[in-house]
Amino acid sequence: MLATVDCAGAVLAADVAAAKDAQASVASSSSHRIPAPTHYTDWPAVESRLATDPALEARVRKIVASMSLAQKIGQMTQAEIKSITPAEVPKFYVGSVLNGGGSWPDGNKHAGIAEWLALSDRYYDASMATDAAIKLPIIWGIDAVHGDNNVFGATLFPHNIGLGAAHDPALIEEIGAATARAVRATGVEWVFAPTLAVAQNARWGRTYESFSTDGPLVRAYARAYVAGLQGDFGDHHVMATAKHFIGDGATQNGTDQGNAMVSLHDMINVHGSGYFGALEAGVQSVMASYSSWDDVGTGTNYGKMSGARALLTGALKDKMGFDGFVVSDWNAIGQLPGCTNASCPQAINAGIDMVMVPDDWKAFIANTTRQVEHGEIPMARIDDAVSRIVRAKLRMGLFGTRPSQRAGAGDAGSLQSRELARRAVRESLVLLKNNRDVLPLKPGSKILVVGKNADSLPNQAGGWSSTWQGTGNSNADFPNGDTILAGLRHADGAANVTYSETAQGVDLKSFDAIVAVIGETPYAETMGDIMPSATLRHSDRYPEDLAVLQTVAKGNKPVVVVFMAGRPLYVNNLLNLSDAFVAAWLPGTEGAGVADVLFAGHSGEGPYNFSGTLAMPWPGVPCPDAGGSSAKATRWLFAPGYGLRYPSKHEVATLPTDPAVDACADASVLSVFHTLAVPPFSLYLADANPQHPAHDIGADLNAVIEWPSSHPVLRLRTVQVNTQQDAKSVTWLGAGRFFARSPQPRNLMQLVSTHAALQFDVVIATPAKGPVKVYMGCGQHCTTSVDLAHTFATYANGARHTVSIPLACFIKTGADNRRTDLSHVDVPFGVLASPPFSAAFADVKIVAGTAAGRADLPCASLGAP
Ligand code: BGC
Ligand code: BGC
Repeated sequence: MLATVDCAGAVLAADVAAAKDAQASVASSSSHRIPAPTHYTDWPAVESRLATDPALEARVRKIVASMSLAQKIGQMTQAEIKSITPAEVPKFYVGSVLNGGGSWPDGNKHAGIAEWLALSDRYYDASMATDAAIKLPIIWGIDAVHGDNNVFGATLFPHNIGLGAAHDPALIEEIGAATARAVRATGVEWVFAPTLAVAQNARWGRTYESFSTDGPLVRAYARAYVAGLQGDFGDHHVMATAKHFIGDGATQNGTDQGNAMVSLHDMINVHGSGYFGALEAGVQSVMASYSSWDDVGTGTNYGKMSGARALLTGALKDKMGFDGFVVSDWNAIGQLPGCTNASCPQAINAGIDMVMVPDDWKAFIANTTRQVEHGEIPMARIDDAVSRIVRAKLRMGLFGTRPSQRAGAGDAGSLQSRELARRAVRESLVLLKNNRDVLPLKPGSKILVVGKNADSLPNQAGGWSSTWQGTGNSNADFPNGDTILAGLRHADGAANVTYSETAQGVDLKSFDAIVAVIGETPYAETMGDIMPSATLRHSDRYPEDLAVLQTVAKGNKPVVVVFMAGRPLYVNNLLNLSDAFVAAWLPGTEGAGVADVLFAGHSGEGPYNFSGTLAMPWPGVPCPDAGGSSAKATRWLFAPGYGLRYPSKHEVATLPTDPAVDACADASVLSVFHTLAVPPFSLYLADANPQHPAHDIGADLNAVIEWPSSHPVLRLRTVQVNTQQDAKSVTWLGAGRFFARSPQPRNLMQLVSTHAALQFDVVIATPAKGPVKVYMGCGQHCTTSVDLAHTFATYANGARHTVSIPLACFIKTGADNRRTDLSHVDVPFGVLASPPFSAAFADVKIVAGTAAGRADLPCASLGAP
């Protein structure tokens, strides 16, 4: 429910709701050619390489006919290993478990292959211990999205964005097969990969999980990846998942889990491409997307994909002929209107066959059982869902053998595919600039290596690496990898290589060349989104990378930049400070692949040349998605397909650097806190005295902060209000403040003139007895507030409300007759309260235009600042 708060703190408004030619073009699934673009006008029938097998279908029917309702609903349930013990499996007939990112046997990050296998056996044995007439083996799913990335010691391949640049479907099939072997060695049988998003906007925090902006390449890769993972369904293969169906890469502004605004034609022919490839290869599961879709051609709004019957059932199963099962994403059902994480007949009726209910699986089973008994979910739908799951399990050959008895189980060697990954790194590199042919480097030359990413396996690996976010890791968490620095030392001779992260105080004269390894640090999903108001300028987010280049540029030596990033970013200023510039994406554990190509194999292996080319356009302006005529002309600096080779004989001229652009101009939303504080804002805790120092809460999602530790005034934890870990729950133990602040003040007057509002989501846990002041700050002695205590008191505990306060309410006339100056706001959002009060806050932003017409409400009647 969206509540607009007027300046007197009252709730004013409520409620916001929230083919024939197909067959001809389907190539043989063993082919690795990149197909031509499609021009379908409706979802095509896709021919799977798996023929319908009457004997298999008879077995499926027999099994399903033998099952009770409890057994059927259990099969449709997938719980997280942290929330279900093996002993609970037989009682509820649970059909599947998963481990999420950063979840390992016994919570042990360094669990060995034997521990994974032992736990897999325990779940399997439990599934064989039911009282069912025909026992159905449980299936365990894992996010092995760039190798078996949750497992200690496994080789991590480059993330998909780097693989896209390789333009090599045969390589992808090998990586799929290697990943399958690694996963099966641990006793796990199903992977949630490949991601088939055709990412259109680099703001999206999952851009690196996408191969390309180009549909045909994604289609060829989908086919090859699924072929590699699923193979012939033998013991060395796993079930693959095509995800996230559909349009995850199409959302407006690249907002994770957002709304795709595209035509039916583009949804089919661009965003559907990967599904053609995956279905051709016989993929057995498809994961529904968190995102929603507005068909801009017909004006049809399909809502969130996990409830979109027209797509899950109509398009995917009926028209495209998918015969595997659809799994929902992590607690995704809870995002549908009228649903919770534990109850959603709509999703099942829409075509979800297996529900990922990580934690609330018991309540889900109870609710779904009741919904079937009351006819809210037809029995025929349940039977169809279960038939699909049983069919996939039969095809996978999971019946009859414990995980540890299957071929390849426990083979620690399967976790390592270092040569293959190193080759993938070499193929993924894209040379953007090589003026005066400063590359390749000569072995034996004296090299200074700088930059925070040079000696960092966590930064090389990115998100979905050991942990979900890829944060909280050190080099020791990747015991079998090589950093880029290690690779350079090996190729050049360790004595010739000096490393200094910042280059401060280093005498640059004694070196022949400088290699700067810079770039992004790890993130996953929503936490990686770059807000529409922010630029795509890398140095806005990582000023230290610009600083180190400025330092080494003073040496007048060739500067080679190796740029690690999960997306193409605006780097004109960094390109200008470099002689050579290599896009290295997120290369994974085999950093030695970088030195292979920088030295062109002169050190013995090789010879290697660059072969990668861009599979996504590279921006030449800080706001490539902002539109406007000036942006259009120079929007893309390098088009897809660009990539130099040795000898490059190509000069990249000095580039314009748009110094004045510090925000993307036509953004109508200024985000302050969206899962994480949105730079330049940080979140702070402080006592009630505005003169006192404040405590930066940092970015650790697992931290419980009691501040100050000696005599806490505030307690802060990360909780869920809308999506995973997107909210901060704050409990007032004394009088204190929770607020967002930026080092650079913002001018909000332009937004005031559009009738903008401060907006946030809130869930009240403990109502306040005294005032709850929501305030804005504009420097010393410049604070204005509105008291929301009365509004919050009307909110039911536990329910989410969206609060919207016109910015004009924060403009007040002070005792000195001066009006509050919103032209230099450093604190756009603060909450000052005293105990008792506890609430969770999410998605804090300033939204243009939402307070339309309310600007002259009697703001002056509000309590004193
Ligand atoms: C969990 C991870 C999981 C992720 C999925 C997070 O809330 O901590 O384990 O993989 O959600 O999005
Ligand atoms: C992600 C999926 C992933 C799942 C399980 C979700 O948050 O969107 O891609 O497979 O978590 O970890």
